[in-house]
Amino acid sequence: MSDNNKAITSEIRDGVGILYWNDTTQSVNCLYEAVLLEFEKEFNALVEQKDVKGVVVTSPRDKFIVGADIKVLTKIRDLPAEELFKQNQQLSLFFRHMETQGKPVVAAINGDALGGGLELAMACHYRVVADDNSIKLGTPEVMLGLLPGAGGTQRLPRLIGLQDGLRYLTTGGNIRPPKALKLGLVNEVVPADQLLDVACDAIRSGKAPRRQPFDAANWQASPPVHSQEFVQVMGAGVALVRDKTHDNYPAPQAMLSCVYQGLQLPMESALKYEGRQFVTLARGPVSRTMIRTLWFGRNDANKLAKRPAGIEDTKFTQVGVLGAGVMGAGIAICTAEAGIRCVLVDISDEAAQRGKDYARDYWQRQLTKKRITQDEFDARMARIVPTSDYAKLGGSQLVIEAVFEDRGLKAKVTRMTEEATGDDAVFGTNTSTLPITGLAEASDRPQSFIGIHFFSPVEKMPLVEIIRGEKTDVRATAVAMDYVAAISKTPIVVNDSRGFYTSRVFGTYGREAFEMLQEGYSPTLIENVGRSTGMPMGPFELIDMIGVDTAQKIAAATEAEVGREAMEAAGENFYNKDLLDWIVLECERPGQKTGQGFYDYEGRKPSKLWSGLHERYPGKLDNPDIAELKKRFLHIQTLETLRCMEEGVVTAADDADVGSIFGWGFAPWSGGVMSYGETHVGWSRLLADCEDYAKRFGKRFEPNDLLRSLAAGEKAFFNDSAAA
Ligand code: NAI
Repeated sequence: MSDNNKAITSEIRDGVGILYWNDTTQSVNCLYEAVLLEFEKEFNALVEQKDVKGVVVTSPRDKFIVGADIKVLTKIRDLPAEELFKQNQQLSLFFRHMETQGKPVVAAINGDALGGGLELAMACHYRVVADDNSIKLGTPEVMLGLLPGAGGTQRLPRLIGLQDGLRYLTTGGNIRPPKALKLGLVNEVVPADQLLDVACDAIRSGKAPRRQPFDAANWQASPPVHSQEFVQVMGAGVALVRDKTHDNYPAPQAMLSCVYQGLQLPMESALKYEGRQFVTLARGPVSRTMIRTLWFGRNDANKLAKRPAGIEDTKFTQVGVLGAGVMGAGIAICTAEAGIRCVLVDISDEAAQRGKDYARDYWQRQLTKKRITQDEFDARMARIVPTSDYAKLGGSQLVIEAVFEDRGLKAKVTRMTEEATGDDAVFGTNTSTLPITGLAEASDRPQSFIGIHFFSPVEKMPLVEIIRGEKTDVRATAVAMDYVAAISKTPIVVNDSRGFYTSRVFGTYGREAFEMLQEGYSPTLIENVGRSTGMPMGPFELIDMIGVDTAQKIAAATEAEVGREAMEAAGENFYNKDLLDWIVLECERPGQKTGQGFYDYEGRKPSKLWSGLHERYPGKLDNPDIAELKKRFLHIQTLETLRCMEEGVVTAADDADVGSIFGWGFAPWSGGVMSYGETHVGWSRLLADCEDYAKRFGKRFEPNDLLRSLAAGEKAFFNDSAAA
């Protein structure tokens, strides 16, 4: 860092040294070796001055410090374990030095203090935070498969107690200033413009101590180590972590261990213990693949790294939405929230208004909870224009169709839209099943016709799958990507196929469950095994949520279009239609929305699996190989993805990974379908398993050529493979 571009600057005000963290070489302040060395030097220079009573650490930027630089971590994690441990300890010992050098240190937290940023603040003796509810404090490392390895697992439970400490460490949840005060994580919450003065005064008045409470000789953990309450909280923590993670995530378990061991050790030894655990996690496959997809993959997708080059950015002033039903209303919400006027068309003004009413109720809840202001509410409402008049679509840069899933109707509204809009308007269809190339036949401008596939509920789901038809051009692709970025969602771009990428691969999860039912496994066992893979829900609960009737309709439409023989010849890669016909048509159980599906429901919550399912499938097999069942659930999704890749439906492994986690919640610990195959299982192992399963369970497990070539080592997708 050159002197005139220093990341850390300092001044002395009436006997108090102030360190400003202002690293403008980075978009946000974060921790990495060079900046830490600079900080250490400045810090020591201040405390060594006799007339400096103490030091305040703050930042003039919006945020305080948001954590370690992940890019740097990925560069150093493959150093020999001892070297990585040494680097970890350098930071830990410096933070320890901050709290033991004898002068009071105060953190004046002006904005988000996350991960290493909060760890630094916790190594101060006193913490003051600005009174601003948008400020987040927390240790989100767990979400990338890591733990806060600069004392975080030690100081958090020492400062806020065992139970809350474990909760925030293992969930990575954000703590807002009022809650932080209540927990004892900060000492004061003060108006932002008084932050620095209050922090300095805490030193001058002696309110800020010169050593940590937990360094006092008579300090006890809360509750005291080995007390009955301590044992109970630890025990509950272990049970909760196992229930939530099914042992798929090593980080929360490592944290439990750090807290349990660490609270019984002197701080220096506890920090060493934590450092060892950190090194193991950082070098292990789970954090590696979580970082790969949840951090880099998603960030690249959000930044539109794969947007076609040379096409001007689209500035959206108006977007049309056809159909004000479940999906159309959700799309209108996202559009209006992005500041874009949205013309919402349905068959009558009343039907269109119903879509807007849905948006109003949704924002009203936000207003009541004070998440948005009345002005914001009014502005959003004014942006949705409900109508039955297609002429009002004129001037839209993009129109998204979300009318009934009916080929003829979709053709009709395509033509009506094209009459109303200019030649430049892109037409996006939100069809869930109909191939795009076929739908584009209704269009006079098939080059501007594209699939924009949302997930339900649109307001909440982060992914949008963009599907290119045969004639879709790069401009339409760029416009669709710009729109997805404008509404702050994550796009992946795929090519046309029945079920596209996400529905096609995701469908194999439910289908495998049906196969297991018919093989004689009990429904409860199948459901529990599904959950234990790390999928967000068991397969039956998931199908209930989507709608068993929706799955049944898709199966019926597919059979009608493709033919049963062809379906079976293709390895039956669709839901088992007979079972779906039985449950939907005969038993009239369409899913969660009616309170009856594979489950019985109390409100929207599943109460128990429906007894009729147990009667028909009592579960004859009483010695299940759970590990194998788990593999079947995950392998089949990876294999179907490889088929998509071979057919050119998905063109990049990182798209497949991002799409799988953010689209249908594929086991996030794995980093996605492709990382699961390459990093966690290994292609040759996957090939051997699939060959075996194809013989024993059916040809849907038949390996394709791509898997064979991967297993032969001819190709790999990721260049950040695990260290030995
Ligand atoms: P929905 O039945 O809730 O809404 C369809 C709306 O289209 C109705 O309000 C209807 O009045 C309107 N409509 C019918 N004819 C029209 C016309 N000529 N002009 C304008 N509006 C017209 O259906 P939903 O669930 O919103 O689905 C819409 C589309 O989105 C379908 O293609 C569906 O396959 C697809 N989709 C649905 C998902 C879901 O989970 N529900 C997920 C992803 C895609």
